[in-house]
Amino acid sequence: MEKKKYYITTPIYYPSANFHIGHCYTTIVADALARYKRLDGYDVFFQTGTDEHGQKIENKAKEAGVTPKEYVDKIVYNAKDLWKSLGISYDYFIRTTDENHEKAVQKIFNKLYEQGDIYMGEYKGLYCTPCESFWTESQLVDGKCPDCGREVKEVSEEAYFFRLSKYQDRLVEYIDSHPELILPETRKNEMINNFIKPGLEDLCVSRTSFTWGIPVTFNPKHVIYVWIDALTNYITSLGYMGEDDTLFKKYWPADLHLVGKEIVRFHTIIWPAMLMALDLPLPKKVFGHGWLVINGGKISKSLGNYKDPREYIKEYGVDALRYYALREVPFGSDGVFSEENLVTRINTDLANNLGNLVNRTISMNNKYFDGIIQSGEFREEIDKDLVDSVKSLKAEVEEKMEELKVSDAVTLIMDVLKKCNKYIDDTAPWAIAKEEDKKERLGTVLYNLLESIRVCAVLLQAFIPTTAEKIFAQLNTKETNFDSIENFNGIKVGDKLGIPEILFQRIEEKK
Ligand code: MSP
Repeated sequence: MEKKKYYITTPIYYPSANFHIGHCYTTIVADALARYKRLDGYDVFFQTGTDEHGQKIENKAKEAGVTPKEYVDKIVYNAKDLWKSLGISYDYFIRTTDENHEKAVQKIFNKLYEQGDIYMGEYKGLYCTPCESFWTESQLVDGKCPDCGREVKEVSEEAYFFRLSKYQDRLVEYIDSHPELILPETRKNEMINNFIKPGLEDLCVSRTSFTWGIPVTFNPKHVIYVWIDALTNYITSLGYMGEDDTLFKKYWPADLHLVGKEIVRFHTIIWPAMLMALDLPLPKKVFGHGWLVINGGKISKSLGNYKDPREYIKEYGVDALRYYALREVPFGSDGVFSEENLVTRINTDLANNLGNLVNRTISMNNKYFDGIIQSGEFREEIDKDLVDSVKSLKAEVEEKMEELKVSDAVTLIMDVLKKCNKYIDDTAPWAIAKEEDKKERLGTVLYNLLESIRVCAVLLQAFIPTTAEKIFAQLNTKETNFDSIENFNGIKVGDKLGIPEILFQRIEEKK
C-alpha cells in the first residue's frame, strides 16, 4: 500500500548569527511532529530554510563591508549548525538565494502579471524595514510598527501591486468552510475580524529602493517584495515552476505550516490569495503558535537575556532542551523560558521520573534474574491499571498529536512513567524477591515494567530521540516501531538486558 504523505514546514528564518531559544521553538515542535508522523507510517517531507533577501540584509551586509550573498552565506551555516545540534530531521533546507527558487519566483510573478493579478501602480505608505512590512496609518501603535514597536518610514515609489482585494470574498468563504485552516481558533477570529473584514487592500509587491532581492524579469529595477519571495518557498522547493515537479505533485498541498503568531497574517491572507490566483490548492492547516518569552519580554541580545541555544545543549544535553521546549509551553500560548524551570524539569521529569525508573528497573532485573527477561504471564489485579494505561497510550498520544497539542502528548507519556514508579512502590519487588515461591510473580512485575518503559520509549522517539535510543540499548531491544506497541508483548522473554546507565544526571538547582 502506498504510504500517506505528510508535508510539514517551518517558516524560513531570517539568517542570523544570533538565533535564540525562541527561534528553536518552532523547529523543535515541527521536528517532533515530523518524527511522529514518520513513526506512524507516513511519507514525510519536512522542510525548513532561510529567507535571505530584503533591505535589512542589504544594510547589514553593507555595515559588514561584504556583499549580501557573502553575508548570508556566512550565517546560513549558523542555522544549519544549530538545527544539527538540536537533532532537527528536516528533509529539505531551502535558501531563497537558491537559483531554482529565484527562477520559479520570477515565473510566478510573470504569470500573475500576465493574467492581470499583478499590475503597475504607485506606492505611498509606511514601511517597517526590520519587519519588511507595510502598514497603514490606522494600524500603527503610537505611531510605530505594531509588531516590533520601531519607527516606520514614509515611502513613495512606482510599484507593482497584487490584487489582494479581489480575493477577499473567496478567502472569507474558504476560511468559513474550512475550520481547520487557521488554528488555534483565536488566531482565526483575529485574522477575520482585524484584517479581512475591515477590507483587504491590494498589496505592494515590488520595491525599487534597494536591490537585494529577486528582480522582476520585465522591469529589473524592481525587486520582488520579500514576503512574496519567501512564501513561495513552500512550493518552489517541490519543483513548482521548475524543471521537475514530481515532488510538488506528490506533496502539495502542505498538511501543516507551523508559524509564530506574528506571521499568521502572511500565511492566512496573502499566501492563500496567491495560491488562489495560481489556481492551486490551499494548505490544509496553518497553526500559529505563541512566543517563548524571558521575564515577560522578548528574547534579544540588546535586552541582555540572550544565550546561544548551543550553550544550553552543552550544559544540559540536547534532549533536555528539546523536552523542555515541547513540554513546558501549552502549544499555541506564550510561554516563559527560564533556566531555573529547565533545571527543575530535568530533575523531576527526566532524571527522576524517567531516568531513575529505567535505571532501577533494569538493575532489579539484573540483580534478581541475571538480566534475563522473564515471562509476563503471572498477572494479578494490581497490574491491570498499568497495563491498560500502556495499551491505550498510543491512541491517546495520537489524538493529542492530531490536535497539535504536543505538550499534552508528552505529558501523557510522562504520566504513564509516573504510574510505573507508583507500581514499583505498590508491588515492592524487593519484598517479593524475599519469598522463594514468588519468583514467577517477580518476573512478571519486572516484565510489566520493562514493557511499559519500552512502549514509552517508542513514543518518546519523536520528542527526545537520543534518549529513546539509549533506553532501547539498555533494554537491548530492536522492537522500536509503532507496530510493536499494540499488544503489550514487544519485550522478548529470554532476552538479556543491557547495562543500565544514568540517562540524566540530576542538576544542582541554580539560584
Ligand atoms: N522570514 C520570516 C518567515 C518567512 S516564512 C515564509 C520570519 N523569520 S524569523 O526568523 O523572524 O522567524 C522565524 C520563526 O521564529 C517565526 O515563526 C517566529 O515566530 C519564530 N520566533 C522568533 N522568536 C520567537 C520566540 N521568542 N518564540 C517563539 N517563536 C519565535 O518571520
